[in-house]
Amino acid sequence: MTPHIFVIFGASGDLTARKLIPAFYHLYEGGYLPENFALLGVSRTELSDEDFRKKAVYESTYLSEDLPQEKKDTFAKMLFYQPIDTSSEADYGKVKERLTKLDQAIGTKGDYIFYLSTPPKLYKTIPAYLATHGLNKAEGHFRRLVIEKPFGYDAESASELNNHLLQFFKEEEIYRIDHYLGKETVQNLLVTRFANGIFEPLWNRNYIEHVQITSAEPMGVGSRGGYYDDSGALRDMIQNHLLQVVAHIAMEPPVSAAAHAIRSEKLKLFQSLRPIDPEEVEQYVVRGQYTASEIAGDTAVGYREEEGVLDDSRTETFVAMKFFIDNWRWADVPFYVRTGKRLPTKVSEVVITFKQSPQRLFRSEETFSDPYNQLIIRIQPHEGLALKFGMKIPGQGFRVKDVNMDFHYADLTDADVPEAYERLILDCIRGDATLYSLGESVEAAWAFVDPILNAWKANESKLFGYPAGTWGPKEADSLFDNGTRWRNPCKNLTDMGDFCEL
Ligand code: BG6
Repeated sequence: MTPHIFVIFGASGDLTARKLIPAFYHLYEGGYLPENFALLGVSRTELSDEDFRKKAVYESTYLSEDLPQEKKDTFAKMLFYQPIDTSSEADYGKVKERLTKLDQAIGTKGDYIFYLSTPPKLYKTIPAYLATHGLNKAEGHFRRLVIEKPFGYDAESASELNNHLLQFFKEEEIYRIDHYLGKETVQNLLVTRFANGIFEPLWNRNYIEHVQITSAEPMGVGSRGGYYDDSGALRDMIQNHLLQVVAHIAMEPPVSAAAHAIRSEKLKLFQSLRPIDPEEVEQYVVRGQYTASEIAGDTAVGYREEEGVLDDSRTETFVAMKFFIDNWRWADVPFYVRTGKRLPTKVSEVVITFKQSPQRLFRSEETFSDPYNQLIIRIQPHEGLALKFGMKIPGQGFRVKDVNMDFHYADLTDADVPEAYERLILDCIRGDATLYSLGESVEAAWAFVDPILNAWKANESKLFGYPAGTWGPKEADSLFDNGTRWRNPCKNLTDMGDFCEL
């Protein structure tokens, strides 16, 4: 692996402590980091190298307490810190100087990765000032720029940001992070579809009735009220994470597993999403906001009472929507996507509902609860997959009961499923951009959600309250037709019914 320096802007922030440092520790422990390697933290806070090491490693609550001291020490020695005022152009000279010194001290030879884990308003400033100091390119050396979400605020700002970045870095040097793509189970969607012969013949409008995707969280916005109130669930979860899941479910088979092949199929898929007409937004999109309630004897505050949130905020903490994909495979197949904060449990899953058999021979209201076969793909937690179908109950007549065939990730490996950030960082170090988003794809995803955002902004379209701890406003149920409905997931993948344990 090429020796290099990994520079994190926003190094004293929460994401660095919570996700990035633990990911680097695990990469170091697994032997995935090059021998000559340094991680340079850059931020406004005045810290010395030692202070940073203490904060990031020795006093971190995100690294396991019983790590061997010797390993912690070796890892900590790879970390360095440079305080700068990120909005001051001149200060980037300090970064340059520090990089040159580190190159000499640890033999890293001038290859750099810049990771922006800062407030989005700095996504334009930092690359521009790196360029002023000539840090964006060097003959014979690699440069990579990793950008956290949110990438833009709407289609226009995303396109502006892309154009701005392309002045300083080439498209293949820009790594736009969507941490859902680092999840093993999201990658496994491609394996499920393209490493098996049995699914592809069924994977189209002829056999699939509809597709639903749920991503639920029990937590409220916590300390992120300030950010969230400006964002909302559509921007925070659907424009990026959930549309990426849609792309994995719906894209055409790529010609190979190479980055360009997969990413160009995904781009085509994003371009085939049928935009929702502004006049039809209320019919296709239901938005909600959680209200105060009691959950297991505790009072849960409503969204408007959260810190950093406006008293009269109309930001959505829940979205359920129905949309279509305009291509041959999916014509007329509805896709339903919903996400929300303060829902009953933490779960993300995809449900493929197959069409009914052409004739229902064995009707018995008493036992056959659901005439639709379903493939349930659990992204998290209790990762796995279940196929639901009807079987005869032994005995007289033809009584049919729903049963499951199921696979659980835990049966496949004893090893812990690696954290998304570990995989994404390692791919970036290796120069593999498969799991990162193309600029054009991000813009296409924004183009799809923009009309909804505009319709919400333009008129006082309905915002439904839902008590914290419930599955969102009941209006979300009215998106369905043909007697189908949301599958409200249970704690265990294979439990069925509406009243199962959460
Ligand atoms: C983040 C959102 O991108 O994803 C958060 O900003 C959300 O609001 C989180 O909680 C969900 O990620 P995960 O991996 O916990 O499903």
